[in-house]
Amino acid sequence: MRVLGLETSCDETGVAVYDGERGLLADRVYSQIADHARYGGVVPELASRDHVRKLVPLVRETVEAAGLRLADLDGIAYTAGPGLAGALLVGAGFARALAWSLDIPALGVHHMEGHLLAPMLESKALSMPFLALLVSGGHTLFVRARSLGDYEILGESLDDAAGEAFDKVAKMLDLGYPGGPAVERLAREGTRGRFAFPRPMTDRPGLDFSFSGLKTHVMTTLRGLPDDRATRADVARAFSDAVVDTFVIKCRRALRATGLERLVIAGGVSANSDLRAALTALGGELGCDIVFPAMRFATDNGAMIAFAGYCRLLAGEADGSAFQVRPRWPLSALAPPPGETVTGNLT
Ligand code: KG4
Ligand code: ZN
Repeated sequence: MRVLGLETSCDETGVAVYDGERGLLADRVYSQIADHARYGGVVPELASRDHVRKLVPLVRETVEAAGLRLADLDGIAYTAGPGLAGALLVGAGFARALAWSLDIPALGVHHMEGHLLAPMLESKALSMPFLALLVSGGHTLFVRARSLGDYEILGESLDDAAGEAFDKVAKMLDLGYPGGPAVERLAREGTRGRFAFPRPMTDRPGLDFSFSGLKTHVMTTLRGLPDDRATRADVARAFSDAVVDTFVIKCRRALRATGLERLVIAGGVSANSDLRAALTALGGELGCDIVFPAMRFATDNGAMIAFAGYCRLLAGEADGSAFQVRPRWPLSALAPPPGETVTGNLT
């Protein structure tokens, strides 16, 4: 089965083709970052318009790169939520119209399920159950993934998502958008230990997070300091260490509490090298498998949507006639594909 995947939930237009036998055949991402950077964040209306402009040429290019024609496709998956309503509607409208014209099924996919399954794109041996830490611009979630669609939320951020905190701290440090990679780069120049920032919510039980206080802590710290690059780098270092340490403490706790021996970390913040190194070390210490998606599948992309769509289309799921996108859509609302529970290795 060959599935075209379309991601348009935010500021990346992602298109990919996944083949059940041959794996990922082609994948293209067009990033709108340069258009939004001067506004300091994503402007929803601009994002929608750019998806309209880019989707058709990108689909043509990707299908051709896969060595296929549109008529060779067996299904089309698109991100149906969560995300920006207008941006989601562009992808949904395009995907459903194209599927209808080709007489193949379309399926709206949950963006965070895409992130959750992304490591499976390359690691065929990876199987559920596993613990997942999903860290993106809009979500920070601990998930017990039992099987496709059977996800129990074990903890989440009570305020800002981790990626959002990176983006806001980047603004305070006069760095560009998106903030995560910029803060990571600046932190490399910083000296560890000059500032000690809190590890929020690690002193009480449970697996929830809170990053808003840490962000405020950065702001108040900066107020009393000279505005030079070395100082900003030291603050970036302290902030990054606080976030990474918080995740290490909570992952250790979550692995112990669940007894699971496999931890998947996915979503944009999983591209952070310090986080990767620290959690890999934790895995070594606890004897657990720590799995990350390849760097290019950590941030938003079409391949993860093609793959999640493939898993569900293969199990017989498809859109009905109602047209719907879900800008807000809790991951816990998902269910296994009807009539079938897919466990273990999904491919
Ligand atoms: O998953 P993603 O691409 O989009 C959403 O679904 O939100 O995640 C984007 C988020 C942004 O907040 C960005 O700053 C953060 O991921 N991010 C990073 C890094 N790369 C991206 N955060 C920390 N370190 C990075 N290297
Ligand atoms: Zn994402």
